[in-house]
Amino acid sequence: MTMLAGLMDARHVIEVGTFTGYSSICLARGMAEGGRLICCDISEAWTSLARTYWQKAGLADRIDLRLGPALDTLRALPSAAALDLAFIDADKTGYAAYWEEIVPRTRPGGVIVVDNTLLHGRIFHAEPDPDAVAIRQFNEHVLADDRIVHAMLPVGDGLTVARRK
Ligand SMILES: C[S@@+](CC[C@H](N)C(=O)[O-])C[C@H]1O[C@@H](n2cnc3c(N)ncnc32)[C@H](O)[C@@H]1O
Repeated sequence: MTMLAGLMDARHVIEVGTFTGYSSICLARGMAEGGRLICCDISEAWTSLARTYWQKAGLADRIDLRLGPALDTLRALPSAAALDLAFIDADKTGYAAYWEEIVPRTRPGGVIVVDNTLLHGRIFHAEPDPDAVAIRQFNEHVLADDRIVHAMLPVGDGLTVARRK
């Protein structure tokens, strides 16, 4: 994630799902000078740990935490296609809605990375759990989306990397 943000010289970055701050630190470390990372999370408790680690990592001034349901945060963003890089890693049933807010706000050539898109194979189960159903539908949604080109990487439990046309 650090390398990707660095390769892209990313300045406008958003993360959906921050938890204790690991991926946000990876993203913020790679951003260009003056870059800004908006972090969306619903948990005050987990993100208070993230704040501690942002301070320790010397990155707190680059990160703007928005506490609340991520969909509300995304919908409140300007509609201009200004994002260089986005990372989706929150509640799986929300992925499709996050995608629909993020794609139009991503600049041509910008990249959207989505975690857990294979769910360790759970998406292929005959009787998938609700998260697996949501991810399966999300993957179909991405496949049919001609605003982007994408690849699914079998890294961890699946990482989708999409580029806005
Ligand atoms: C898998 S963790 C994120 C991990 C983090 N990206 C990392 O790699 O270090 C998922 C996070 O999504 C947050 N989350 C769940 N539902 C959410 C919602 N509706 N809006 C915003 N954040 C939500 C949880 O509070 C949790 O911190």
